[in-house]
Amino acid sequence: MEVFIDSANITEIEKWLNMGVLDGVTTNPSIMFKDGVYDAKAGAKEIAALVNPRSVSVEVTTNDLDEMLTQAQTFATWAPNIVVKIPQINQDGIPCYGVIRQLEKEGIKVNATVALSLGQVILAAKAGATYISIFAGRLADEGGDAPTLIATAVDWLERWNYKSKIIVGSIRSVGDVLAAAMAGAHVITIPPQFLGKMVDHKYSRDIVRQFTIDAQKALEMMEKAR
Ligand code: E4P
Repeated sequence: MEVFIDSANITEIEKWLNMGVLDGVTTNPSIMFKDGVYDAKAGAKEIAALVNPRSVSVEVTTNDLDEMLTQAQTFATWAPNIVVKIPQINQDGIPCYGVIRQLEKEGIKVNATVALSLGQVILAAKAGATYISIFAGRLADEGGDAPTLIATAVDWLERWNYKSKIIVGSIRSVGDVLAAAMAGAHVITIPPQFLGKMVDHKYSRDIVRQFTIDAQKALEMMEKAR
C-alpha cells in the first residue's frame, strides 16, 4: 500500500517526505487555495520537483470537456511526474471518460477523481485511468459505506486485471485511514494533520521516557562503580 499526502503545503510535504513515509502527493483546487497556493503552475512545479520521481496529482479547473483536455495537456508539460485529476462527470453530469481515455492514449497519467460509486470505478477503469480516487469522507457524509466500496472496487479491479489503482481520499480521521487500509486500498492520501495523529501515542511517549530514565540510571551506577 502506498501513502500519499493530500496537501499543497510545501513545508508539510517536505517534512513527511524526509521521514521516508510518502509515495506521492495529491492536491485539488480547494487544497491549493487553503494552503495559499494561488499560482497553480508555480505550486505544482515546486511540489513536483521536491517529490520527483513520486507523482503529484493536479486537478483541472474547468467544466468544459475540451478545455479539460487542453488544460491537462498543459499541466503534463510542467513536470514529468504530474498526474492530472479529471472528475468522473462534470458539474452537469456529463461523463469525462472520453477525456480520460484520450489523455491516457497520449501517455498522460490520469487520476479519475471524485468517485463515489462502484459504477464510476468500473467506467474509469475501462477508460484507462491510472488512478481512481474514492472520496471516503464525502461518501460517509451521505450515509455511504466507504470501506465496502473500497474493498469491492479493489476486488473487481484485481479480478479483471485492470491496471487502475484505488486512491482513497477525503480522509476525516485516523479511523478512516485504518478502515481504508484494512479494506485493501492501493493508496491512501492523508492530510498532514492525520499523519501527525497516526504517529503519536501517549503510551509510546511514556515507554520511551522510561527507557531514557533507566538508561541514565544505569550510567550513574556505572560511574559510581568506577
Ligand atoms: C483527494 O485526492 C481529494 O482531493 C481530497 O481528499 C478531497 O477531500 P475532501 O472531502 O476533504 O474535499
